[in-house]
Amino acid sequence: MVGRFSVLVRICFAFYASLAAAKAAQEPLLQQGYRVGEKIPVSCLNRTIDTGEHITDATGQLSYIPFPTCNETGRPLELVFGVEKDINCTIDFIDDPFFHLLEFYVHNDAPLTCRIPTKPLPPSALKDEFEKGTKDDTDGQGSLSEVYTPMVVALAGTLQLSHLHVATSMNVLVHAAPKSVSPGTIAAATAYSISREPPTRIVIGDPLPLQFSVRWYPNTQLPSGWTGVGGHLTFSTLVYCVISALASAAICVAYFRGVELPRRLKSHGKDRLGGMERGGLGGYGLGPGMGNGYGYGIGKRD
Ligand SMILES: *[C@@H]1O[C@H](CO)[C@@H](O)[C@H](O)[C@H]1NC(C)=O
Ligand SMILES: *[C@@H]1O[C@H](CO)[C@@H](O)[C@H](O)[C@H]1NC(C)=O
Ligand SMILES: *[C@@H]1O[C@H](CO)[C@@H](O)[C@H](O)[C@H]1NC(C)=O
Repeated sequence: MVGRFSVLVRICFAFYASLAAAKAAQEPLLQQGYRVGEKIPVSCLNRTIDTGEHITDATGQLSYIPFPTCNETGRPLELVFGVEKDINCTIDFIDDPFFHLLEFYVHNDAPLTCRIPTKPLPPSALKDEFEKGTKDDTDGQGSLSEVYTPMVVALAGTLQLSHLHVATSMNVLVHAAPKSVSPGTIAAATAYSISREPPTRIVIGDPLPLQFSVRWYPNTQLPSGWTGVGGHLTFSTLVYCVISALASAAICVAYFRGVELPRRLKSHGKDRLGGMERGGLGGYGLGPGMGNGYGYGIGKRD
């Protein structure tokens, strides 16, 4: 009797525990943020090749398709959460439709509008993202949807009669929401060509060797990267100022002890009034000298 009762209790407990586990597994899944190192798929707006206009489905939703497949990975472009790195993504073969789209992008007729999921998508949606593209915006809010964060890829280049020049080196900046507010959540993203290197010449059938340099920021502020004129006071500038101030002070003390004080003591004995006057002037003279040393330290570095 007791044995049967304990079995019953155990079954009940196991059932309850599995229920709780299932519930726990189901609910926070959608809320959970990215873990560092988790892959983030990039998808872009599909456009018509004759006008460059975006394509909508029967219900008026914008049609997003996976980013073209990179030859390096055999998969569409993926960012990696919180990992700063360079990603090469060579699009193996530029076919006729894609070439026309590139013309729209570099000629600024239409932007290369992409997006990344703000938080990990549930597995079923992720599968769609990679295999057939997503036709939804979940709640129909376009780029304001909270499910995705827009990432416009500002591709620079020039249009020639027979070919294109495309600046294929790109910077990608991604901001995560502060950890205290919403861990593992993307807040904003952008990508743009940097025109450092000569642009790549492209004709139909060529590969497009895109190189993405990805940087992550743990909040929505951009750190100051400029230390020249108009920049902020840096630590090294501060250290330089402190050291030059200490050096000036040391020179003053040495001068006063070694030169001025003995002179004053000497002249004190000889001519009381005249000595005081000369010493006083000398002492004042030191003040601006120290000020100059300090000011020079700031002016030179900044
Ligand atoms: C993008 O739109 C074009 C034109 O409607 C269509 O032919 C093509 O299949 C679409 N691309 C994808 C990946 O669905
Ligand atoms: C990307 O490609 C460039 C040029 O081909 C090469 O120099 C660089 O090492 C590659 N970077 C990575 C991370 O593969
Ligand atoms: C892309 O990969 C295929 C097969 O791995 C290879 O044959 C081709 O040469 C590669 N193309 C480029 C542009 O690297």
